[in-house]
Amino acid sequence: MKLGSRRTIHYAVATMIVCLMGISLARGQNGQPAAAEKPLMAEDVFKNIQVLRGIPVKEFMGTMGFFAASLSLNCTDCHVSESSNSWERYADDTQLKNTARRMVLMMNAINKGNFEGMRMVTCYSCHRGNQRPEITPSLAEQYGTPPPEDPDKIEILGQPAAGPSADQILDKYIQAIGGTQQLAKLTSFAAKGTYEGFDSDFSKMPVEVFAKAPNQLATVIHKPNGDKSTIYDGRAAWAAAPETDVPVPVLPLAGGDLEGAKVDAELSFPARIKQDFTSFRAGFPATTIGDRAVQVVEGTTSGGSRVKLYFDKQSGLLVRQVRYTNTLVGLIPMHVEYSDYREVSGVKMPFHWVVTWTDGQGTIQLATVQANAAIDAAKFAKPTAPKSVAR
Ligand code: HEC
Ligand code: HEC
Repeated sequence: MKLGSRRTIHYAVATMIVCLMGISLARGQNGQPAAAEKPLMAEDVFKNIQVLRGIPVKEFMGTMGFFAASLSLNCTDCHVSESSNSWERYADDTQLKNTARRMVLMMNAINKGNFEGMRMVTCYSCHRGNQRPEITPSLAEQYGTPPPEDPDKIEILGQPAAGPSADQILDKYIQAIGGTQQLAKLTSFAAKGTYEGFDSDFSKMPVEVFAKAPNQLATVIHKPNGDKSTIYDGRAAWAAAPETDVPVPVLPLAGGDLEGAKVDAELSFPARIKQDFTSFRAGFPATTIGDRAVQVVEGTTSGGSRVKLYFDKQSGLLVRQVRYTNTLVGLIPMHVEYSDYREVSGVKMPFHWVVTWTDGQGTIQLATVQANAAIDAAKFAKPTAPKSVAR
């Protein structure tokens, strides 16, 4: 997909979600605690919902991301172009939008009639990143060099493959990054570096990362118009952004997004990795990332989400994490790639990580990491609305 199109999607989704959360937050302040409220449903917020009813707003937006990724389309390919500047105009109908509605009903009927209602056939099964599914097999494809296998997609089909157990792979990892004793001595770190991504228009911006064992993490990107941060305090998580970027600057994370923030925080202190997941599975078929052989361990989080961890077979280091969040029409993937491992007070840490999801990509390159730094508890507290600085 073209970069420009991805960016449009990313901005639209981010802004939209935050905008809608604003509505739910406002309601939460109506005398009763926000947590006790049932989630806002798509049809409560949007004006023209005919088939994707009965799902929370956040999952609805994830479903839009799933459509866009499955067909490689922009938001404004299915929606009128004016919707990029006006949320109301997303309600306008277009031919593609009406076809997409029909497709949801068709997909549901196929799954109900043939797969006991399980989501076996999705938009992606037929569309594979194309607006129009292929009808006729291609001889060029059949006889050409197949594209490289996508390591994110690896699964255990049938019998697990022979090889090291999850415990053995995790032990090798812990040994590779410094060993249990050394890891136990790392109780916090403060890092500085640069961030670049779709949401920074690919210019480099200063980033700070604060982490405290066992599982607190704050990532703060200093954008020219104000700070953008993701914070996990050990229990709750928030995403905050300047109000010039989003209508509601502080957004609490829930569901898969909250679990993802927890996993990121826990992986910052791998000493406890075996306790951080409720179960582990190994026995994935052999696969590679680039030209490096990797070993895969799948962990299940306390909330029941699957996270696949990819370890370099030779060095034992963690090179990738793949995880999923739920939508009405299927699971959407995201992955984080780790590289540039450097030693910080006896522990090897990745200084470079690239986060990729259906709506965008961002890269963090650390320059300095201070081990066992004293970190003010306020760094992990619910953020206040970031001050917007005029651009
Ligand atoms: C493949 C076509 C398609 C793409 C791509 C798509 N949408 Fe949609 N969108 C729909 C359909 C269909 C509906 C109506 C769903 C229904 O009736 O249940 C909808 C409804 C909406 C609504 C509700 C509007 C209202 O008030 O009723 C919003 C908001 C929205 N989409 C945002 C987005 C955003 C943001 C993106 C980009 C990430 C996007 N859509 C991408 C097909 C699409
Ligand atoms: C069983 C296969 C299948 C599934 C599943 C499927 N589609 Fe389609 N889709 C098609 C076919 C076939 C067409 C017709 C293409 C044409 O007219 O050339 C189509 C057409 C479309 C079009 C119109 C494209 C155009 O240019 O006119 C949209 C939009 C679309 N699908 C969206 C979706 C969405 C969203 C989903 C998931 C909810 C989905 N499709 C699931 C097979 C499928």
